[in-house]
Amino acid sequence: MLTTPALPGLTVVSHPLVQHKITLLRDQATPKKIFKELVDEIAMLMAYEATADLALEDAEVVTPLETTTGQRVAGKKLTLVPILRAGLGMVEGILKLVPSARVGHIGLYRDHDTLEPVDYYFKVPGDAAERDFFLLDPMLATGGSAVNAVHSLKRAGATRIRFLCLVAAPEGVKRLHAAHPDVPIFAAALDRELNASGYILPGLGDAGDRLFGTR
Ligand code: PRP
Ligand code: URA
Repeated sequence: MLTTPALPGLTVVSHPLVQHKITLLRDQATPKKIFKELVDEIAMLMAYEATADLALEDAEVVTPLETTTGQRVAGKKLTLVPILRAGLGMVEGILKLVPSARVGHIGLYRDHDTLEPVDYYFKVPGDAAERDFFLLDPMLATGGSAVNAVHSLKRAGATRIRFLCLVAAPEGVKRLHAAHPDVPIFAAALDRELNASGYILPGLGDAGDRLFGTR
């Protein structure tokens, strides 16, 4: 994992397998089925890194031979919150690693003209203050969607939130960190910039369209 001194709050998951898969994901020739599988795999590998500092507690376990003390993740079940639509592509991969996680949903889309987020759905488990939230969206572009989603989670009581994306633009990282400095940001790639339409360069195109075969 690499921290980026110029962009506080951001950790880039530099694992070779993640970088290899991100390159395949960027390729415009990658078909929808493979694209979906790659998002799933990268999300799982990123979750492994993004959970590295979860608190543990002692737990007694009875082996076939004796009773011993092991460790387990402390607290309430982890909670994954995809930002619809594209964040949905990251859920199944992480659930393979953390099958007991709860899943909330935040519905947001980016207005094509203003690039500002418009929200249309919000549902997360109760007792939010006691949970670790993993907010999921493949793309962190202007940062408007992420800032809005974190705000909604905090309004619901969440206090421990991590943001996981596949590709981040510097603009989005700065905006999210400025608005919510307590939220660690994990990305598989930090790209160069946004174009005039708010797309990440070099990026991978429209993540939702490539995942779901729209457009
Ligand atoms: C994309 C992406 C993020 C958002 C990022 O979603 O999945 O949610 O744009 O852009 P931002 O950082 O500038 O807010 P989009 O609005 O295209 O919706 P979709 O997932 O339904 O396609
Ligand atoms: N949303 C996407 O899906 N891709 C981008 O490059 C920017 C926002």
